[in-house]
Amino acid sequence: MDIKNICCIGAGYVGGPTMSVIAAKCSHIRVDVVDVNKERIEKWNSKDLDNLPIFEPGLSDLVKKCRGKNLHFSTQVEKKINDADMVFISVNTPTKKNGIGAGKASDLKWVEACARQVATYSKKHTIVVEKSTLPVRTAEVIKSILNETAKNDLKKGKTFDVLSNPEFLAEGSAINDLINPDRVLIGGENEIAINSLSEIYLNWVPESKIIRTNLWSSELAKLSANAFLAQRISSINSISAICEATGADIREVSKAIGSDKRIGSRFLNSGPGFGGSCFKKDILNLVYLSEYFGLPEVANFWEGVVRLNDWQQNRISQLVVKKLFGNISGKKITILGFAFKANTNDTRESPAIKICNDLLEEGAFLSIHDPKVSPEQISSDLGLNQNLPITPKYPIEGNWRFTHKVEEALIDADAALILTEWPEYSKINWNNASRKMRKPAWLFDSRSIIDPKDINKQEINFWRVGDGIN
Ligand code: NAD
Ligand code: UGA
Repeated sequence: MDIKNICCIGAGYVGGPTMSVIAAKCSHIRVDVVDVNKERIEKWNSKDLDNLPIFEPGLSDLVKKCRGKNLHFSTQVEKKINDADMVFISVNTPTKKNGIGAGKASDLKWVEACARQVATYSKKHTIVVEKSTLPVRTAEVIKSILNETAKNDLKKGKTFDVLSNPEFLAEGSAINDLINPDRVLIGGENEIAINSLSEIYLNWVPESKIIRTNLWSSELAKLSANAFLAQRISSINSISAICEATGADIREVSKAIGSDKRIGSRFLNSGPGFGGSCFKKDILNLVYLSEYFGLPEVANFWEGVVRLNDWQQNRISQLVVKKLFGNISGKKITILGFAFKANTNDTRESPAIKICNDLLEEGAFLSIHDPKVSPEQISSDLGLNQNLPITPKYPIEGNWRFTHKVEEALIDADAALILTEWPEYSKINWNNASRKMRKPAWLFDSRSIIDPKDINKQEINFWRVGDGIN
């Protein structure tokens, strides 16, 4: 089937970048990205390319090149489904908050809504592609909704194929990940539909990287890949605590472990625990599925990865309190970085949220800096509006303020805590910067971006994750 019109439902962190790359690589295809969120669509159409709803290196260049030509953003969900040969479902699938499976299972209400919309508004044979990360066997639910809803029109040629094509991009490197993927995974039942989707990728991805599987293997491979990656982080974070207790150094241990080819060196950086919208939700989904299929040992194994991650986040805030003489009430702490990783403005499940809330609860005043996250986003994440101190010397207990300049954030601070590995934080001269801070001053580096050789311990106390000489 020759695909000329693609509609992607969901203009988020996956839909926006993925469709921008497809549009850039396939000038013969018209790509429409639709979303119910009017404000988000307005930002995608913004003349000011610095104002796109998502910050992702390389994204604005692609949008500039294709927008208004073969890439379009709108809220016209029904019309664009109607025109499409292929519909990507790229909507959010968060953890369920209420009802059966609450706290673990994925909430599929947005995916179901898409399936109903496609069933209602498509007008011919349509290939429906699961781009969202979904529990195993969701394709069955989608197929059933499509075929039942469109029952009366199936004979008129309004038919469907469902494919699973999970996305493996990581935020901060999304464009590069999409242009040079390790693999493209396509799960499906109908060879013709699978070929139609792989033809699109073949415009820039070598055939050897396209993996074809059945639907259920594809859905499960996505959940498992995230679980494996997150498991490495919890593993290395568990070892970081042993390093601190014994005098070993986590960077040396990581290097020694990672140089074994069977293990590999990536994803072995110890830090404040993993964040991001997916790792926790996808592992909990795997836990739910394991429990559902009567596999409690499997469920416990994966739940341990999340438990260790929560523990690591707690460990960091407790450690800050301990080093500041067990009391941070009324003390000013500078938070460097709020995004869940560098090169993104995304704060979903960022370790900074939990760590900042713990410190606020202990009565600290936080001066928060991040180069890409807005103060409004931080207010919403912390559930607390910022409050301006009367003077920097008399900060307000249990409150926070956004600070645009790092130097300003450090004035009279008792401690600075690096939570995101933004490159600009590694360039700070801490011996000079510490002169603005209240003594005894502390620098906590949860991301290992500071070289201890650059720190004069007469000027500032220094702690870094997994460092046994702390
Ligand atoms: P997101 O929340 O940024 O975007 C989802 C968008 O879908 C929202 O803008 C929402 O308004 C829209 N939407 C929801 N229901 C709709 C409907 N019925 N009609 C039109 N629009 C609708 O989410 P995201 O981060 O892009 O993630 C999407 C999916 O991709 C999730 O399943 C996630 O697990 C998966 N995923 C995410 C990443 C990532 O890095 N964020 C990577 C790989 C996979
Ligand atoms: C992750 C996966 O890497 C992607 O393949 C996947 O598509 C995506 O989830 C998804 O399904 O949403 P992402 O969450 O964007 O991508 O970013 P990662 O680079 O994986 O980082 C996740 C978290 O782990 C961050 O908080 C990061 O700081 C942390 N991390 C990562 C570490 O603490 N140590 C590491 O060595 C690597």
